[in-house]
Amino acid sequence: MSNTERILITGASGQLGVELTMHLRARHGADNVIATDVRDNKAVSGTGPFEQLDVLDSDSLAAMVRRHRIGTIYHLAAILSAKGEADIRWTWKLNMDGLLNVLELARDEGAAASTRMEIFWPSSIAVFGPDLPRENTPQECPLNPTTVYGITKLAGEQLCAYYHRKFGVDVRSLRFPGLIGNKSEPGGGTTDYSVDMLRAAAAGESFVCPVRPETRLPMMYMDDAVRAATDLMDADGSKLRVRSSYNITAMSFSPKELLDAIRAHVNGFDVAYRPDHRAEIASSWPDSIDDSAARRDWGWEPKFDLPDMVREML
Ligand SMILES: NC(=O)c1ccc[n+]([C@@H]2O[C@H](COP(=O)([O-])OP(=O)(O)OC[C@H]3O[C@@H](n4cnc5c(N)ncnc54)[C@H](O)[C@@H]3O)[C@@H](O)[C@H]2O)c1
Repeated sequence: MSNTERILITGASGQLGVELTMHLRARHGADNVIATDVRDNKAVSGTGPFEQLDVLDSDSLAAMVRRHRIGTIYHLAAILSAKGEADIRWTWKLNMDGLLNVLELARDEGAAASTRMEIFWPSSIAVFGPDLPRENTPQECPLNPTTVYGITKLAGEQLCAYYHRKFGVDVRSLRFPGLIGNKSEPGGGTTDYSVDMLRAAAAGESFVCPVRPETRLPMMYMDDAVRAATDLMDADGSKLRVRSSYNITAMSFSPKELLDAIRAHVNGFDVAYRPDHRAEIASSWPDSIDDSAARRDWGWEPKFDLPDMVREML
């Protein structure tokens, strides 16, 4: 990577941002990875360049990209599924205008410079609705999301495909399942219960689960998620046949199955179930995902299954 191709991460203080920033800094050198967010997090501001950046401020975003000679943006800033339901208008604004600002900037920079900018933007299994086959949900299917978050991800996928088709913007995307890591707090998603349950077990506390015991969801350990994002960005663009967003998965489990896996390590760990609005969101999402297009086009393969993930987390 030359110094005209530094990386900028938006939403870097979040659950995925912290781990992605740490990984990219180890790989490319701390000075080449500019972490940005509206809030500070010492895990990223203490380990390399950090700047306050509101992704809704398109002028500051453009100025920062030019000042740091950015070649790649990982655009992570968003409001997630469970939190998004509490403020529909704000979720729409942040998730859509933030992405549009990044895509417009990439279009302008691509027209002005000899090298094209590359964008990574995560979508989510929240694009899927309850009308689909729950097992092995295919890459191409009718998308009828049930949350405003899912609606913004579906619209975002279409924007990515549109900017690629119409303006040649090199934007790449993954439909992440629930992400599980232990280096940062989850930020308000429906699958956060899994991280919270693992934390309670590690702390010797009991846990009240907001999702029903039998509801299975696709999930992924954070190391796999970070590797998936960077592998997709490293891939030969001419081989990428999906320019909306790739299905991707690593494992599927229910709260009950997670509890059983935790009990293999922690004796007497106790969980009560009190389903709330997150249980309704969870039951509208697939049990498992068909990620064969990602495997075919850029060689995706997960490394962590449920027992591996639980062992690493605990
Ligand atoms: N965590 C998951 O399970 C999961 C699953 C699927 C997709 N994703 C996607 O991955 C991305 C990152 O998710 P996450 O779990 O790290 O979320 P998170 O909520 O932990 O982090 C989001 C970050 O965005 C920041 N932010 C909020 N408003 C901002 C603004 N105006 N400008 C700049 N930054 C702002 C927040 O301060 C926060 O640090 C999101 O796009 C999310 O939709 C996450």
